Amino acid sequence: MADIEIWTEKYRPKKLSEVVGQEHVVDRLKAWVKKGSIPNMLFAGPAGVGKTTIALALARELFGENWHDNFQETNASDERGINIVRGKIKDFARTIPIGHDFKIVFLDESDALTPEAQQALRRTMEKYAGVCRFILSCNYSSHIIEPIQSRCAVFRFKSLSEDDVRTYAERLAKGENIKLSSDAFKALYEITGGDLRTATNVLQATSALGDVTKERLYETVAQARPEDIKKMLETVLKGDFQSGRKMLFDMLINQGLSGEDIIKGIYKQIFELEIEEEKRLRLIEKCGEYEFRLNQGGSPEIQLEALLSNFLKG
Ligand SMILES: Nc1ncnc2c1ncn2[C@@H]1O[C@H](COP(=O)(O)OP(=O)(O)O)[C@@H](O)[C@H]1O
Ligand SMILES: [Mg+2]
Repeated sequence: MADIEIWTEKYRPKKLSEVVGQEHVVDRLKAWVKKGSIPNMLFAGPAGVGKTTIALALARELFGENWHDNFQETNASDERGINIVRGKIKDFARTIPIGHDFKIVFLDESDALTPEAQQALRRTMEKYAGVCRFILSCNYSSHIIEPIQSRCAVFRFKSLSEDDVRTYAERLAKGENIKLSSDAFKALYEITGGDLRTATNVLQATSALGDVTKERLYETVAQARPEDIKKMLETVLKGDFQSGRKMLFDMLINQGLSGEDIIKGIYKQIFELEIEEEKRLRLIEKCGEYEFRLNQGGSPEIQLEALLSNFLKG
């Protein structure tokens, strides 16, 4: 049997020009590539928007075919303490670059490092500044100690837009010869919020079932469809509690959605409902209360029905 290909690797852009969105980052980096040198950098932003991808593409463009010789990737969340800095990172940083003026250490999820490990990292960055550049990726730059921040050019990565997700998904669809229905693109964005790693995985899983449709996407991720939730809430708001309750049980039992997923869906839809602000606030508070009860082990049927009854009250 052929090995299953992992699409997140297969479709990871190899060149900066293939990256979707993040123009503000890519344009600056292209200028550095032209000069043949880069500063230390901090890539901050949400998951699945191209931080690792861009670091890898940058190394390829700077170093060419044998980029691997001068590039080390480490994930700080595997080992968060000072040993990783004193061991693996330092061992790589101190050796002479091959065929170039410097090498690159890419440290993913660097906000997972303890403050002591970050201090050690700062010293390593200083000591080997002549031969090594550091690219640190993190979700929040505020979790990185100030002396490191001030040594880095900071790049803030943005969540990708619906158009970006579409552009990327079209590339995958073409590459894999799969068909996406027109509403699938929007659903993919709604489900993933612009996280292309998740989008890729969801597409790969869904395409195993055939053409990719909105329904199949939502089935694959077992998320409540926004319009189902909205319809349920509006039905109850209109005073028809029994029909709303039926829709709720359909989601829980026939669609097999978890209580947490449905509450999250309800929470999102509260902002879309045409109701008075005061009521909106009260319902948001209720969502928080019932989510807590669910987490404490309350039965999803009872808790969600109770939450729903709050939509009935004036
Ligand atoms: N801006 C982007 N352009 C094209 N593909 C992307 C982009 N961001 C993420 N991807 C896709 O999602 C996968 C994960 O992206 P990655 O760069 O590892 O995310 P992170 O920001 O968490 O480091 C990549 O393999 C690639 O297929
Ligand atoms: Mg990454």
